Amino acid sequence: MLSVQHVSKSYPTPRGELQILADVTLTLERGQAASIMGPSGSGKSTLLYILGALERPTRGTVTLDGRDPFSLGERDQAAFRNRSVGFVFQDHSLLPQCSVLENVLSPTLVAPPSERDAGEDESRARALLAQVGLADRLDHRPGELSGGEKQRAALARALIRNPTLLLCDEPTGNLDRAAADTVAWLLLDLHASRKTILVVVTHNPALAERFPLAYEMSEGTLQPCRASA
Ligand SMILES: Nc1ncnc2c1ncn2[C@@H]1O[C@H](COP(=O)(O)OP(=O)(O)OP(=O)(O)O)[C@@H](O)[C@H]1O
Ligand SMILES: [Mg+2]
Repeated sequence: MLSVQHVSKSYPTPRGELQILADVTLTLERGQAASIMGPSGSGKSTLLYILGALERPTRGTVTLDGRDPFSLGERDQAAFRNRSVGFVFQDHSLLPQCSVLENVLSPTLVAPPSERDAGEDESRARALLAQVGLADRLDHRPGELSGGEKQRAALARALIRNPTLLLCDEPTGNLDRAAADTVAWLLLDLHASRKTILVVVTHNPALAERFPLAYEMSEGTLQPCRASA
């Protein structure tokens, strides 16, 4: 379970505290998927970074299956992110010099030795790439892929460690409609078969609509727009 309790975030500025998130509370169980929409600058990415332990909240708590990543030291926090969180950003952020297969395997290379098995990791990476329709693109460099293919590779990379939490920040933002539809469909399909907790920030109402839970961020506060029974 992901539990976000009374999370606030502010930055000190020369003109005083700049409040970005104000008292955000959210609980998501395993297998639940939520979309977050809202105007530019309302704090959506900031919230995702906090959920993924990339940014520390100013106040409030975040726990994933009872563990608070912000109570951990730097190394354990990095290990938590590697094991428990998958990220997909608007910009695929694939390593340009590495093949698609190497990119998908990259999170396994920094995993603790006890959690690594080169043969097993590679077959999982190949299986994931087949699931996202890239079985015949394994040796391509990111520069040799279309935009939609890059996002599908990024999705495979985000899932290679079988994370509890999958966080996507405008994953279809740079794609045309057909490619966006494919990525959205894959995202929901992979989520359904893996029972991750999925949170997707999007400006696309058609994508947000596909999620059982939908939230709206407005000036740092998070409100449900609708909820399934
Ligand atoms: N390090 C920082 N210091 C000060 N202000 C920041 C910092 N990082 C982000 N902000 C501010 O926080 C606000 C929220 O940013 P955030 O990136 O979360 O917005 P967003 O909802 O994701 O917007 P978009 O839809 O454009 O991606 C913005 O006004 C931004 O300027
Ligand atoms: Mg953003």
